[in-house]
Amino acid sequence: MVNPFMTSKPAPHDTAIHPEAASSGISKGLTNYGDRGFSLFLRKAFIKGAGYTDKALERPVIGITNTGSAYNPCHGNMPQLMEAVKRGILMAGGLPMDFPTISLHESFSAPTSMYLRNLMSMDTEELLRAQPMDGVVLIGGCDKTVPAQLMGAASVGLPAVQLVTGSMLTGSHRSERVGACTDCRRYWGKFRAEEIDAEEIADVNNQLVASVGTCSVAGTASTMACIAEALGISVPGSASPPAVTADRIRAAERSGEVAVHMARAGLTIDRILTPAAFENAMRVLLAMGGSTNAIVHLAAMAGRLGYALDLKALDAMSRDTPVLLDLKPSGDHYMEDFHAAGGMPTLLRELKPLLHLDALTVTGRTLGEELDAAGPGFAQSVVKSLKAPLYPQGGIAVLHGNLAPGGAIIKQSAANPALMEHEGRAVVFENAEDLAARIDAPDLDVCADDILVLKHIGPKGAAMPEAGYLPIPKKLAAQGVKDMVRISDGRMSGTAFGTIVLHVTPEAAVGGPLAWVQTGDRIRLSVRERLIEWQVSEAELAARQSAQPVVEPTAARGYAHLFRKTVMQADRGADFDFLAATECKGSIPRS
Ligand code: FES
Repeated sequence: MVNPFMTSKPAPHDTAIHPEAASSGISKGLTNYGDRGFSLFLRKAFIKGAGYTDKALERPVIGITNTGSAYNPCHGNMPQLMEAVKRGILMAGGLPMDFPTISLHESFSAPTSMYLRNLMSMDTEELLRAQPMDGVVLIGGCDKTVPAQLMGAASVGLPAVQLVTGSMLTGSHRSERVGACTDCRRYWGKFRAEEIDAEEIADVNNQLVASVGTCSVAGTASTMACIAEALGISVPGSASPPAVTADRIRAAERSGEVAVHMARAGLTIDRILTPAAFENAMRVLLAMGGSTNAIVHLAAMAGRLGYALDLKALDAMSRDTPVLLDLKPSGDHYMEDFHAAGGMPTLLRELKPLLHLDALTVTGRTLGEELDAAGPGFAQSVVKSLKAPLYPQGGIAVLHGNLAPGGAIIKQSAANPALMEHEGRAVVFENAEDLAARIDAPDLDVCADDILVLKHIGPKGAAMPEAGYLPIPKKLAAQGVKDMVRISDGRMSGTAFGTIVLHVTPEAAVGGPLAWVQTGDRIRLSVRERLIEWQVSEAELAARQSAQPVVEPTAARGYAHLFRKTVMQADRGADFDFLAATECKGSIPRS
């Protein structure tokens, strides 16, 4: 009897014998032994050791990035997602091949996950290049993972689908709904102000993260999930289902299926991530009051494809893109509410007049076709209308001035309107250590009208930690001060709120003007004029520069050496200079 799982004779097209035909599937990208026939022969021998048949190996191969890790509860549903993606790939006639890559969680990455984002992108890129696959499903979720995966995949150019792990469920503290991490900061602020005691803050700690999954507000993870769908690189409707729901699993199955169709059709990532797609993503970022970090990530992703992010054009776009999504920290809801309200199709439908509806998505259909297929929508209260928005402009404003010649940003939708036109005295902290040492000192010379300035947390200085959300000095917090103007060259979490100027470019560590600001200087912030102005005379600035010249930080060895040597400024996405595309195709948004 013939064993149906054994092949008796090689098929005439067998690439073990005819490796010159090896341009797809398991035969792609052969290891170089100087004999292509032998390379393929050896590869097939090894994979058959895992029980694969020749029949299985003839299928299009779809890679799946496994970013599960005990250190990453935001990816805690990885086993279920992988199983569903594989099912989708098999249903569509492909062969799933999962493989591990670096996984990054915000709270388990020292000194900051941003330091490792580019490393993860390189890991993803090189494994996509090295291993044979016709397409890939990228499974990510926690803040830096999705941008890292899309940066890497964009550099490779394969057909790719982004699948996010989905948001966590909300918890409840003494009948109040809570979720990471806007409420983490709010309750910690109450604790610092001695409004709640140690016992209550410990109770809150148990409730903030009610399940596996990514942060439940419009933090970076949710923002990147929505941006991925707006880019057309995720399957429609897949941004919002929470991590533990059946909808999330179905999105995973569909992602696997779509990846096979893309591979067969040769629908490569560069045909999805076009300038029109990036402009759609920027509209969504602005309309959702999304994380400021997304600007850095979008700049890095666009840079991999040869496009430069034009911050001034982005600001112009912000002026006519109101915030529609009522999500914390700009609004009141959580991601699971957004999902119940229809998720991204509801938001995109409302934004239709501002979108490029002809942009292609991973399904092979355009964004407009997908929106038509999603139906007419229904009554809900999470996504506002263009006529009655949550905030009249986009969530993010871009500032310029002599303190930030290369630009800075502020999340205006989460800022205090009373502070958006403000002049005050600078109270300066030289770096994060100086901040930690002095911010709560009882003798700190500070009042509520002052402007807190933190230097040396930019890309080269400190790998841009989310330290731009400077805490209110304890003695002011105890007096009830909730917000102050704060300025730095770093980032802040997308879940944070306040009148906070971020990404000051160039950063202090490379000799940006911020390097020479001193306590007592006057600074003026005008969001209306998009201005960040430092009142210093040229003579005084020159004297300070010669008295204290900037020495750029370096590192002697390892990844830190590479990082410090090659990291670019925030407006270039803090990517490594050698990873950006060599060809410049123009700027986005196109003005
Ligand atoms: Fe992972 Fe917030 S910590 S998404």
